[in-house]
Amino acid sequence: MIFAAPGARSKLVVPSPVDKGKELTISVAAFQTLAEQLRAMRGLDLLGYKDRYARRRLSVRLRARKCASLEDYLELLEREPEEWDRLVAALSINVSNFYRNPETFETIRTRLLPEIIQWRQQHGQPRLKLWSAGCADGDEAYSLAILLREHFPGPLATMAVSILGTDIDEDSLARARAGSYPESRLQDLPPGLREKHFSPRGEEWVVRRRVAALVRFQRQDLLRDPALEDLDLVVCRNVLIYLSREEQEGILDRFSISLRPGGYLVLGKTEILIGRLRRALVPVIPRERIYQKPGIAEAPSRQEVDG
Ligand SMILES: C[S@@+](CC[C@H](N)C(=O)[O-])C[C@H]1O[C@@H](n2cnc3c(N)ncnc32)[C@H](O)[C@@H]1O
Repeated sequence: MIFAAPGARSKLVVPSPVDKGKELTISVAAFQTLAEQLRAMRGLDLLGYKDRYARRRLSVRLRARKCASLEDYLELLEREPEEWDRLVAALSINVSNFYRNPETFETIRTRLLPEIIQWRQQHGQPRLKLWSAGCADGDEAYSLAILLREHFPGPLATMAVSILGTDIDEDSLARARAGSYPESRLQDLPPGLREKHFSPRGEEWVVRRRVAALVRFQRQDLLRDPALEDLDLVVCRNVLIYLSREEQEGILDRFSISLRPGGYLVLGKTEILIGRLRRALVPVIPRERIYQKPGIAEAPSRQEVDG
């Protein structure tokens, strides 16, 4: 729990990241009020975030709105309910881009997807289930769809493919569903793919229907919502870094339940598997932060599959 730990001082002084000389005051009581309101109104659990991270993000909004204390900011939220949107956006930084860390996508293409597809085929299960967890504006989920369209046309024609993008932030999800991006977001795409999979509209590029049709977006809070099931691949990058160790463990637990035996988890480049989860998910390509759920069963014989 942050801010309200037993014996916590009644005032916490937060250096402002914007105006370095000044400090902002955040009282424990006001912080708890804000946390309760955020949970009730937006389903966002402020107490699950790292102490330093939450303070830093909050102080950005206080400074931006020229509030000297959190009490002032609470009053402002009451007067201007649209500020809630900005606060949620500030807490759930949603920076992303297509093929972010291209070498990770290359590994997914060359090593994970061929094996995943083969496993499903050998088990007589013509389906692929991929999840971009904390997908922000959808770049990562659509990147997986582009990979499949580009390199796996055969399996796409014969297998039921589901790519799910989830995020806690409804605004991000609305942008993801719209699928329209400024050019800067497409800079890591391999040459030729922009024109092939996007159509220009004004200043932006819109994901073409052939790619969009593979992806579905829905709201999901990784801190609270139940595990999914039977997944081949969970990509959850640059989300855990903002969360406390305890919350990270809970999420990783649910990922391990969500994956089928032999399924893969991909974390962000600066993230690592922590605690007891090290046994539940085995590092298979540590450089790329790729882990696998053990217990991969032998492929059944053709007769069993058919029979
Ligand atoms: C920096 S973005 C990462 C986007 C993408 N995965 C990438 O690496 O490019 C972090 C995303 O995590 C989302 N997020 C933060 N807390 C979350 C939670 N509790 N449940 C689901 N998503 C969350 C944020 O809304 C934000 O869109």
